[in-house]
Amino acid sequence: MNQTNTIAPASLQGLVAIVTGGAKGIGLGIARELAQGGCRIALWDFDDAALGEAERTLSSEGADVTTFKVDVSSVDQVEAAVARLLASHARIDILVNNAGIGGDKLVSKMDLAFWSRVIEINLNSQFICSKAVLAQMAQNRFGRIINIGSRAWLGNRGQAAYSASKGAVVSLTRSLALEYARKGITVNAVAPGIVETPLFATLTEEVRQSLHKTVPMERIGQPQDIARAVRFFAEPGSSYVTGQLLYVCGGRSLGSPSV
Ligand SMILES: NC(=O)c1ccc[n+]([C@@H]2O[C@H](COP(=O)([O-])OP(=O)(O)OC[C@H]3O[C@@H](n4cnc5c(N)ncnc54)[C@H](O)[C@@H]3O)[C@@H](O)[C@H]2O)c1
Repeated sequence: MNQTNTIAPASLQGLVAIVTGGAKGIGLGIARELAQGGCRIALWDFDDAALGEAERTLSSEGADVTTFKVDVSSVDQVEAAVARLLASHARIDILVNNAGIGGDKLVSKMDLAFWSRVIEINLNSQFICSKAVLAQMAQNRFGRIINIGSRAWLGNRGQAAYSASKGAVVSLTRSLALEYARKGITVNAVAPGIVETPLFATLTEEVRQSLHKTVPMERIGQPQDIARAVRFFAEPGSSYVTGQLLYVCGGRSLGSPSV
C-alpha cells in the first residue's frame, strides 16, 4: 500500500512556493493568496522592475518573499534559480507555473517564429520548471504543481498558437499527474477565463463591454478568483486530487452566454 501521503504537511504554513510570472497580474494575486495562507514565496519573473515593486508590495503586507530574475524558458536560468532557492530555503513544496504570454494572430499571418515563441514560453517553461523541482519534491514525498492554462484551450479564432500551447498544458498536467501519483505529488491545472490584469486595463471601454457580454456571469474575473482555485490545489489536504483541470471563467467554458 502507498503510504506517501501520511507524511504530508498539515497546512500551507511555512511551505515554500514558487510562482512564475509572479511580478504582476494573476501571478501576483496567486503569490498574495499563498502568502496569506502562510507560504514563503519565491517570485520568478524576467521583469526586474515589476519584481522589485511586487516584492515591496507583498513585504509591506507581511509576506515572506524572495525574488529571482529568471526567464522560465531557459533551462540554465531555471536550474540556477532552483539551486539558489534550495540553498536559502532548503525545500520547494509548491510550483505554480503561471508565466505566459498572449499570442493573437490569425494562422494566415503567423510564421513559425511567432508560433514557437508562444509554445516556448507558455508550454516549454512549464516542462522546464516542473522538471527542475520534481526530483526534490519526490525526495520529500510531497509536492504540488499547479499549471495555469486558459479557457482558450477549447479554441479561439486568432489564437491558434496560444490555445494550442494551453491545450498542451492540459495534456502535460495529466501525464505528469500519472507519472508522480505515487510520490506524494499532485499536478493540476487552472483554466482562467477573462481576467482583469494590466493588459485588460489597456483595452478600450467598447472592447471591455463586448467582452463582458461573453461571460455568463457578466463580470470580468479578478486575479484573486484564480488565486483561490490555485490555493485549493496547493493545500496539503487536497492530496487526493490530481490531473484535474478547473475552469475559473464565470461560466464561459459552458458555451453560449445567452442562458
Ligand atoms: N489575463 C487573462 O485574461 C488570462 C486568461 C487566461 C489565462 N491567462 C494566463 O494566466 C497567466 C498569467 O497571465 P496574466 O494575465 O497575469 O499576464 P501578465 O502579462 O499580467 O503577467 C505575466 C507575467 O509573466 C512574466 N513572464 C512572461 N514570460 C516570462 C518568462 N519567459 N520568464 C519569466 N517571466 C515571464 C511577465 O513578465 C509578467 O510579469 C498566463 O499563463 C496567461 O496565459 C490569463
